[in-house]
Amino acid sequence: MSTSSQIETPNRWQGIIHRYAEFLPVSEATPRITLCEGNTPLVSAENFVSAIGGKFSLYLKYEGLNPTASFKDRGMTMAISKACEKNAEVVACASTGNTSAAAAAYAAKAKLKCVVILPHGNIAMGKLSQALIYGAETIAIKGNFDDALRIVRELGETGRVEVVNSINPVRIEGQKTAAFEICDQLGRAPDFHFLPVGNAGNITAYWKGFKEYFDRDHTDKKPRIFGFQADGAAPLVDGAPIKNPETVATAIRIGNPASWDGAINAAKESNGMIGKATDDEILHAYKTIAQSDGIFAEPASAAPLAGIIQAVKRNEIPAGSIVTATMTGHGLKDPDRALSTAGTEPILVEPNTASVMKAIGM
Ligand code: F0G
Repeated sequence: MSTSSQIETPNRWQGIIHRYAEFLPVSEATPRITLCEGNTPLVSAENFVSAIGGKFSLYLKYEGLNPTASFKDRGMTMAISKACEKNAEVVACASTGNTSAAAAAYAAKAKLKCVVILPHGNIAMGKLSQALIYGAETIAIKGNFDDALRIVRELGETGRVEVVNSINPVRIEGQKTAAFEICDQLGRAPDFHFLPVGNAGNITAYWKGFKEYFDRDHTDKKPRIFGFQADGAAPLVDGAPIKNPETVATAIRIGNPASWDGAINAAKESNGMIGKATDDEILHAYKTIAQSDGIFAEPASAAPLAGIIQAVKRNEIPAGSIVTATMTGHGLKDPDRALSTAGTEPILVEPNTASVMKAIGM
């Protein structure tokens, strides 16, 4: 919100509402609660493509570089701004960790009370630390994400809290701006877009964004959307909700996605697909992209990379294609997984050059 003590800063990036207001349900009356999210880089991953034997260009939308280190900030600037416009006093969400981090940060900025409900024992350490340091009321339940979302829906029905999960449609509106940015950065729409799927809000948002840009003549095509779930949490692929989802990619450990229809539509309308990758495939892609191109994304973000490896094996991506994929969250969110996956440890030596040279084989 601008106050009289603030100067005008026209050249400063001021977040996705400022940049894409004409595409969003906002008006002059909507307060703008922003941490300057969006404008994330589209990084070329040519080494990864060579390593897997592809003949196309791959660009990664590095959403881990948002203010709370995931794509959720795009939806949350909208959800919290609209909550303020409605004079809400309390916001609440269920989360596997990233939504809660974003809700806690934007609620702090807006001076709203924030309640986050998390599945106990299945939240990456970085994400839990975010909810706590931003000052959210943090509740851990002895259940999974699907249980937490059920409780949050019920809290919403009391009329006393504003739900900021992606069942709130303004979240989808904010998140669709990532598709706009990809098209703006490429100067065209990609041929394929790959992304991870959990509660399925983001795949719904991307497809909406790509369609709107096409409909308003900003692009002359729409990409095929390829969404990837984790093997032990793939209800959209298996065709039915899963009671006890399991995967190392805790961000997408979800058995009954809220935006089920949105995900199925995106895949169908775009002539794409929803696939699944095993934990081994996910961790292999996670380590490969870090070591081939210097991109540290969290395990869930590696699901679409595992999907790209599968697509190359099936010969599904024609030579010369432009492929994009969303790296939804930063790798530092989940340091425990990085340490266990790297498979190496620091080498402890005496404090002299000879010992270091010996240790590094020189
Ligand atoms: N990648 C990351 C890093 C996520 O945190 C999520 C979802 C997804 C992918 C999947 O996106 O749910 O829109 O299909 N995280 C939610 C959360 C569930 O609570 O942070 P989706």
